[in-house]
Amino acid sequence: MRQIKPNVFSIGAIDWDRRLFDELIPLPEGTTYNAYVVKGSDKVALLDTVDPAKNQTLMGNLVSLGIDKIDYIVAHHAEQDHSGSIPDVLMLYPGAKVVTNAKCRSMLIDLLHIEEDRFLVVEDNATLPLGGKTLRFLNTPWVHWPETMCTYLEEDKILFSCDFFGAHLAESNLFVAEEPLVLEAAKRYYAEIMMPFRPAIRKNLEKVDALDIEIIAPSHGPVYDNPRLIVDAYKDWVSDNVKNEVVLAYVSMHESTQKMAEHLTAALIERGITVQLFNLTVTDLGKLAIALVDAATVVLGSPTVLTGAHPKTAYAALVANALRPKTRFASIIGSFGWAGKMAEQLAGLIGNLKVEVIPPVVAKGHPKDEDFLALDKLADEILNRHKAIGIVT
Ligand code: FEO
Repeated sequence: MRQIKPNVFSIGAIDWDRRLFDELIPLPEGTTYNAYVVKGSDKVALLDTVDPAKNQTLMGNLVSLGIDKIDYIVAHHAEQDHSGSIPDVLMLYPGAKVVTNAKCRSMLIDLLHIEEDRFLVVEDNATLPLGGKTLRFLNTPWVHWPETMCTYLEEDKILFSCDFFGAHLAESNLFVAEEPLVLEAAKRYYAEIMMPFRPAIRKNLEKVDALDIEIIAPSHGPVYDNPRLIVDAYKDWVSDNVKNEVVLAYVSMHESTQKMAEHLTAALIERGITVQLFNLTVTDLGKLAIALVDAATVVLGSPTVLTGAHPKTAYAALVANALRPKTRFASIIGSFGWAGKMAEQLAGLIGNLKVEVIPPVVAKGHPKDEDFLALDKLADEILNRHKAIGIVT
């Protein structure tokens, strides 16, 4: 429990040990579930709650802060890592109302079975006075669910952004202390959670950037007392700009695809292209997602297994397809023993990507001189495409 500004407190929980979110997303640095209390002269508001696993921490913090009444629980997002403790808070504070938009209300009723008469529904841009503190609600849909919203505390110029601008990072600092560390975690978070909704995020970014903001208080990770740090990073990530980079994600069983991946990597480096090489047997999914944020080109590498792609490469293709990075070009390399449709299958798995597919290079058996020459030509082709869009001078 820490004070951000007079009568504005952070009272959430740090989850040092959590290593997986949604049974999918790695959390190498743990996470936090930030909740905030804003005390006005008349009313008290709690902004978001915590994951049910940390319910007791939240309850303890409310008691320690001497909060004997809560008038409003602002729910920015129905996902349970922020909303999951609302039923217990409602039980502890029977006079409290859940303040949210109509869509979030409906989702909270479905997900948490909160009684319908416990809600106060607010429209976009509505204000709620607490006495010397005024909450302004901003609908910001699709960061990253359809009901997501933010709150702007007018007098203190604080934006409570929930998942927007968040970072899965468990640390004891209230405010950002190590900018590179936080930006890495925030980019990972953006890549895994927000990137599929890039056009919506761009619009919402414009909406919040029009405000006079001194502090951004997200619901995961440290609080930004230099909002430009994260707003400018988001502007770059959601832009259409790509970098002179290739993400090469591969699996190899008997070294054929590995030799091809290594050869292509060297050929790209010779041509001045940055390569991020991922052996998918040991890759952290989050690292791959981060690399996908900016790279102009993605190359998938796979041997042929039971006539198709190796399941680990197919998984990477499915993940990339779901995350919808702004990648411009894609290709496939790999090998086969006697027959198969590996390259066609992988190409079919990335249909969401708005990419030009550069013809694959597939070797029969162990790659021969002609296959390595074909990889050199693939590197030339990637360079030419990067030049054509102006990212190589
Ligand atoms: Fe942090 Fe979408 O929940």
